[in-house]
Amino acid sequence: MEAAQFTCLFLLFLLTCHRAQEVAEEVENSSDGPGAAQEPVWLPDVPAAMEYITAAEVAVIGFFQDLEIPAVPIFRSMVQKHQDVSFGISNDSEVLSHYSITGNSISLFRLVDNEQLDLEDEVIESIDATKLSHFIEINSLYLVTEYNPATVIGLFNSKIQIHLLLMMNKASPEYGESLHRYKRAARLFQGKILFILVDSGMKENGKVISFFKLKKSQLPALAIYQTVDDQWDTLPIAEVSVEDVQNFCDGFLQGKLLRETRESEEKTPKVEL
Ligand SMILES: *[C@@H]1O[C@H](CO)[C@@H](O)[C@H](O)[C@H]1NC(C)=O
Ligand SMILES: *[C@@H]1O[C@H](CO)[C@@H](O)[C@H](O)[C@H]1NC(C)=O
Repeated sequence: MEAAQFTCLFLLFLLTCHRAQEVAEEVENSSDGPGAAQEPVWLPDVPAAMEYITAAEVAVIGFFQDLEIPAVPIFRSMVQKHQDVSFGISNDSEVLSHYSITGNSISLFRLVDNEQLDLEDEVIESIDATKLSHFIEINSLYLVTEYNPATVIGLFNSKIQIHLLLMMNKASPEYGESLHRYKRAARLFQGKILFILVDSGMKENGKVISFFKLKKSQLPALAIYQTVDDQWDTLPIAEVSVEDVQNFCDGFLQGKLLRETRESEEKTPKVEL
């Protein structure tokens, strides 16, 4: 029941926030400085490909048997647009077969859930820059992924079904150090829990915060939920520490719900003995 509500919430969010994101993209585009790598890295053999892919949190590789197809220049144009992603390209038959590619493919490799997502031949044939860019935005999940209308789709498509959200204002002075600690905690739960950052300074994210029955005055806070059932929990925190995040996650994995304890404490009037 609440799982369905989640889906509605996130879909609603998707629809209302699309425009804000388009604007953000335009701004990003205009700030691209010269000197950034503008070409995908050539991967001549299997060891080079493996080394390149495992070193990146998100790698997008063009596997092309034929370098003359229209998808190739479109793929190359992505390098400038997605500066956080590592781009590689290969036409070596051993590399292609190592990654189980039979025709032409563009594949996204993710460290966080150890996933390889392939765009198949038919998709490649009719791909354009908008579609390819969207594919990359949706599926770029990191050790800590920032929540936005694109990544929410990728998060829900991941095989990892427990999400942890840190709701915090990115403009707050503690943000840098908090993110650093949050990332350290994320490594401890890699493959088990997806770590997400929700910028509470963004008005659109208010829906996520109120969904977890939190008020802005209670932030920063952690929220954890399981996408397959209705289990979720929250914990307002004064600051992010690796230990607190770890205890909160471990408790949830063991079935403890702090929220219920808090609620029953509030409901039951304290009896003086
Ligand atoms: C955005 O990027 C494209 C392609 O790299 C470039 O041609 C265009 O001038 C850029 N737009 C702005 C506003 O800088
Ligand atoms: C790969 O591309 C290079 C450069 O275009 C070309 O010389 C080479 O023959 C291609 N290899 C295969 C297996 O098609």
